[in-house]
Amino acid sequence: MTISTHIAGYGAYLPSKILTNRDLESIIDTSDAWIQSRTGIKQRHIAADTEATSDLATAAAHKALERAEWQPQDVDMIIVATTTPDYTFPATATRVQDKLKAGSAIAFDVQAVCAGFVHALAVCSSMMKDGMAEKALVIGAETFSRILDWSDRSTCVLFGDGAGALALQAKQNNPEGAGIIKTLLRAQGTDFRSLYVDGGASTNGKIGHLRMDGKDVFKKAVTRLADISQELLDQQGLDAQDIDWFIPHQANQRIVDALGRKLRIPAAKIATTIASHANTSAASIPLVIDSYGQQGHLKPGQLLLMQALGGGISWGACLVRY
Ligand code: ACO
Repeated sequence: MTISTHIAGYGAYLPSKILTNRDLESIIDTSDAWIQSRTGIKQRHIAADTEATSDLATAAAHKALERAEWQPQDVDMIIVATTTPDYTFPATATRVQDKLKAGSAIAFDVQAVCAGFVHALAVCSSMMKDGMAEKALVIGAETFSRILDWSDRSTCVLFGDGAGALALQAKQNNPEGAGIIKTLLRAQGTDFRSLYVDGGASTNGKIGHLRMDGKDVFKKAVTRLADISQELLDQQGLDAQDIDWFIPHQANQRIVDALGRKLRIPAAKIATTIASHANTSAASIPLVIDSYGQQGHLKPGQLLLMQALGGGISWGACLVRY
């Protein structure tokens, strides 16, 4: 008996406050032209002071449940991929379980920064294969606005807040071959200083701010994501042309374009929301799925290739038949 993990629903939540590039011009020494030409970003959403990461995650989860036609109590596992948890502990997923009223579903967080969502998909799929859960919510949720240094123009213009959720269902002996096919994950801890937050409970007891060597991260993102994607395609005997939708982490339009060129994927097959969402870290991939799903672009049977890289440096790629 084989068990596969299917997408049964998707949902998203974006805070109502929008911060445009023009708005940023009045806060720091930057310009809409610079931000757009270097990143493709036009605006980002910013959580209200009263909104915690679990609030964003819960709102996205409700939408995914609606689309899957599940009740909260049907869910037996909740995984939240986040780097900006509500509290140092407990896991934000347990706050989501409580807010959703999802009974006593297994609930824990996965922390792999921008690569968190692909890590969470791999964990969910493995646990479903082990029979530990049948109906799960995998949520990417972030309030990166809280860890940005708003005086550092080289980083604060890049990120936004938001949450995206997938309802995932274990299916036995699935004849259509749909679901998560394979995930590859990698990490290189020696690259820690390229992208990190300079705070933590066991270092200086502060929350800290994001620090980044942008050029280094840019180069590593393009080469490592191209390599891991090619490795995954080769393992599966596939060619880039077999992919219907390429769903990269939304860090920067130039990274996405370079990746597309390296993998020879036409721009029309690359899903992007970077202009309106900016980089929402672990939330970016499920936010794209929600946006493209709602526009009717995602169709049953299509092959989706997701990939992401972030602090660690950690990265991964995930192949899914929708
Ligand atoms: N507005 C105006 N000028 C700026 C800004 C800004 N917001 N930020 C930097 N500059 C200036 C710099 O000070 C520098 O000025 P100088 O030449 O007088 O010293 C000039 O612009 C060029 O700076 P660079 O850092 O060389 O700019 P670059 O072309 O490398 O672009 C960027 C910077 C956009 C951060 C780029 O390196 C990048 O996209 N890196 C990838 C990082 C990323 O996406 N990280 C997200 C997290 S990781 C992930 O999700 C994959």
